[in-house]
Amino acid sequence: MWRITWLLLAPLLLLGQAEARAILGIDLGSVYMKVALVQSGSPLEIVTNLHSKRKTEQMILFDGKDQQRFYGADADALLARKAASTPTSMSVMLGREEQHPAVKVLAERYLPVTPYYNETRLGLSVQLGKKETDPIYTPEELVAMVLQHAVDISTAYAAEQGHASMLPPKDIVITVPSFATQRERMALLDAAALVDLNVLLLIDDNTAAALQYSMDKTFADATNEHSEDQWILFYNVGATSVQATLVHFYSYLQPQKYGKPKRVPTAEVVAKAWDATAGGLALDHVLVEHLANAFEQQNPQMQGLRENVRAMTKLRIQANKIKHVLSANADIPITLDALHNDAPLQQHMTRAELETLAAPLIQRAVQPALDCLKRANKTIADLTAVELIGGGMRVPAIQSGLQAALGVEELGLHMNSDESMALGAAFAGANHSTAFRVRHIGLVDVCPFAYQVTLTDLNPDKKADEWKKQTTMFKSFGKLGIKKTITFTHEADCLCQLDYAEDAEHVGLLPEGTERSLVEYSITGIADFATKMKEKGAPKVSLQFELTASGIAHLVKAEASVEETYMAQEEIEVDDEEAATEEEAAEPAKDKAENAASGKDEASESTSENKDAEKADETDKKTEDDKNKEKSKDKKPKAKPKKRITVEKEKTRIIKETLTVTARNKGKVQPLTPELMEASRAKLAALAEKDKLRILREETRNKLESYIYKIKNTIQDVEGIKEVATEEQLQECMDLALAAQEWMDDDGYGADIASMEQKYTTVSDPFEKILFRYKEKEARPAAVAALQKQLTDIEKLMENWSTSKPQVTEAERAEVLEEVELVKKWLAEKESEQSSKQPHEEPAFTSAEVPKMIRTAEKKILLLSKKPKPKPPKKEKNETKAENETATEGESSESSADGSAEQPVDEKPSEDAGEPKADSTEADPSDEL
Ligand SMILES: *[C@@H]1O[C@H](CO)[C@@H](O)[C@H](O)[C@H]1NC(C)=O
Ligand SMILES: *[C@@H]1O[C@H](CO)[C@@H](O)[C@H](O)[C@H]1NC(C)=O
Ligand SMILES: *[C@@H]1O[C@H](CO)[C@@H](O)[C@H](O)[C@H]1NC(C)=O
Ligand SMILES: *[C@@H]1O[C@H](CO)[C@@H](O)[C@H](O)[C@H]1NC(C)=O
Ligand SMILES: *[C@@H]1O[C@H](CO)[C@@H](O)[C@H](O)[C@H]1NC(C)=O
Ligand SMILES: *[C@@H]1O[C@H](CO)[C@@H](O)[C@H](O)[C@H]1NC(C)=O
Repeated sequence: MWRITWLLLAPLLLLGQAEARAILGIDLGSVYMKVALVQSGSPLEIVTNLHSKRKTEQMILFDGKDQQRFYGADADALLARKAASTPTSMSVMLGREEQHPAVKVLAERYLPVTPYYNETRLGLSVQLGKKETDPIYTPEELVAMVLQHAVDISTAYAAEQGHASMLPPKDIVITVPSFATQRERMALLDAAALVDLNVLLLIDDNTAAALQYSMDKTFADATNEHSEDQWILFYNVGATSVQATLVHFYSYLQPQKYGKPKRVPTAEVVAKAWDATAGGLALDHVLVEHLANAFEQQNPQMQGLRENVRAMTKLRIQANKIKHVLSANADIPITLDALHNDAPLQQHMTRAELETLAAPLIQRAVQPALDCLKRANKTIADLTAVELIGGGMRVPAIQSGLQAALGVEELGLHMNSDESMALGAAFAGANHSTAFRVRHIGLVDVCPFAYQVTLTDLNPDKKADEWKKQTTMFKSFGKLGIKKTITFTHEADCLCQLDYAEDAEHVGLLPEGTERSLVEYSITGIADFATKMKEKGAPKVSLQFELTASGIAHLVKAEASVEETYMAQEEIEVDDEEAATEEEAAEPAKDKAENAASGKDEASESTSENKDAEKADETDKKTEDDKNKEKSKDKKPKAKPKKRITVEKEKTRIIKETLTVTARNKGKVQPLTPELMEASRAKLAALAEKDKLRILREETRNKLESYIYKIKNTIQDVEGIKEVATEEQLQECMDLALAAQEWMDDDGYGADIASMEQKYTTVSDPFEKILFRYKEKEARPAAVAALQKQLTDIEKLMENWSTSKPQVTEAERAEVLEEVELVKKWLAEKESEQSSKQPHEEPAFTSAEVPKMIRTAEKKILLLSKKPKPKPPKKEKNETKAENETATEGESSESSADGSAEQPVDEKPSEDAGEPKADSTEADPSDEL
């Protein structure tokens, strides 16, 4: 089904500029990552990884002292054996603390690598092992590695598809759950920054799916005037959560600069609901417990199954398998040999049993769909369709559970449930970037969480009443990607806290374990400004906040201002008539009113950042007035008599001051400080360097090893080698090879690249000489024969030219033949020299030298061949043109080729005249040697 989508999409994604970098849409699910690629000249497509799979496990296996990293299926294959050094679902740990339900559940579900709170970094860390020296990583570092892996597989994929020149993508869009908090989003951005990825946007899982849904929908077709709006519930059962999102799709007519208005399809998110801990893994966990209980019943005397990491990992893998098998089959036999203490687990399970076990979970899982409708004040009857996405939808019990809860006959399964989020994310990325042109689809998303701003004095005055102001900055389910400004009158520096709002409705929404406090801004400069502007009244402070499209709120601008009124003299030009003067006098007053009304955005405002603000302001004012004058001139082009008069005017201006803002993150879990970012970067760079070295070492090792084989095989199997090497020479090479082999297996096992390279040189140098002689044995005589034939051909050609090319003089031909003689002489000398050599000695000359000898002669011939034929004399020359031709001979080769007005140029066939004019009009094809 997705293939059709691709084809429909293909013409929509057009290349903007040739060297556009590709963009990735990364659906970073907690178990699998899917990557969609947008690149120039290709449709939007899912990247297949190094195992040709369309999804990649979110896990990294760290192996050995070197911390060699294995990703995806490579890690998964070794998971059972190395579970303790294989962190999984790292994205779940981002921006959260130990007690967060989604984090706590990792340990409850027997994941061997679990995070703990680290005071130093104000966030979680994970340690791969129990020893003090075992390596420690932050979730940000681990997710950074996963994101880098996404880039790597995409680059490899593009190369495989024949886009070898694709630069590794730098711009990405990552999906996040709809309930991802600001901290969690910021931690993800930190992770991307660690590997220098530029996150164009963080987009909700379901919103991305909704975009993919709308990409090729006809409801938005501009030709379909009867298109109707749609209300779709996207219901997403992922590995760690269930999310429901109600989206309203409609289109509207957008006026165009040129031509008819365009119909723009729009996806508007209306409501969201979720269960942050139900999901596929929760079901797996129920199965794991069931199997573990069964084992304990079968082996009542055995203790410690649940502490056995390997056994529990096996059960987790098995549980996932059972779930999948029972989605399509009625029953499954379960056999795990030597699960714990060599005792096996023998079980059998039916789909009915699974469904009984899953029932409470399914109850939980359908709730978000109901909540979402309630939040939007919609009923099932209002919906156009319910679209199921996410891996969990394959479980039939979930589908039937949802069907029953909603009371619908059929559920939509139109999308490729696994890939719609990655594809939608990539589409949003292409829309965001200027390098790609995509179909215009409007997108309106909302943030479920409300933000509040609390203002207090930075240095509270103990005597006075405490000053405090609090307001909701962004309301719950308000639009993303907006800016809001609050303005208040204040004379002291203040403290501004940006937090999640505390109102009752909101608390229920904020996921359990989320801290409300986010960031605290110290805003200074107000007091100083107030003192400076004492006469003009208390400053008005305005703070502008933004809630970005990625769902992160922050303070963008802080400013203080005062308004002042002043009198100014102004010279104006009026008509020299009594009646007209009165009319004109009314005009400046109107100007003033305009200035006052729109003052904030007009040139009349000024910043008082510099000391001379007021003076500067006066100058500003003048130019402004000049402009006004010009305007009035424009308005009255009539040639009436004018005169200039000076009037006194009351004016207002706004003096502004940019305030100093210092931000401090609050709470137990905080974004990485610049220092920690640097340290993490260095850590990742060191690992990457090790990877590079390891690969290089392996390559060097392989090179050396295969050379050793080559020596052995050649000496044994290639008969002719003995003709160009003595017994001793061959023996020496063989000894070197055997010694190198021994070295590799022994001392050289852990050798560095330089020593291996050195060994390679030692082994290969003498043998390369023998191989060379072996090749030359045939190549040299062949080259000589070829040269001799060429020499004969030249001699024949000169003979031919003596009649067929009269423009080539006798002397010129003699020169060529002289060159031929020189080559013949060289050849004779070399051959005689070679004949005195033994076949195992270094040859007197090589096959590569031979063809070079004839170059000079060839060049001469080429030049001569271009010599134009003599022209029949012209009756009358057009002097002007001829002159022009001669003067610009170098450039005008094309016009001279037709020979209409050409002068013979016998005398000087200059070097550069020959080369650029190598067009075939004059050259004789037979001249090519
Ligand atoms: C805490 O985090 C820092 C920074 O990542 C790290 O260097 C340190 O080893 C961690 N400490 C513990 C006890 O995990
Ligand atoms: C919910 O929708 C119904 C019918 O569309 C309407 O009558 C009612 O006022 C709405 N309630 C709210 C709280 O918006
Ligand atoms: C695409 O970009 C335009 C312009 O910035 C914006 O209005 C629209 O909502 C975007 N659409 C999507 C799907 O991101
Ligand atoms: C010279 O070479 C041309 C082209 O191969 C051939 O047609 C012509 O007969 C030759 N003339 C002589 C005198 O050999
Ligand atoms: C000479 O050439 C110029 C421009 O090419 C043309 O205008 C003029 O008529 C020519 N004169 C003769 C006598 O052909
Ligand atoms: C002479 O050549 C120049 C440059 O090639 C050209 O611009 C000019 O028109 C020519 N003049 C005549 C008279 O052909």
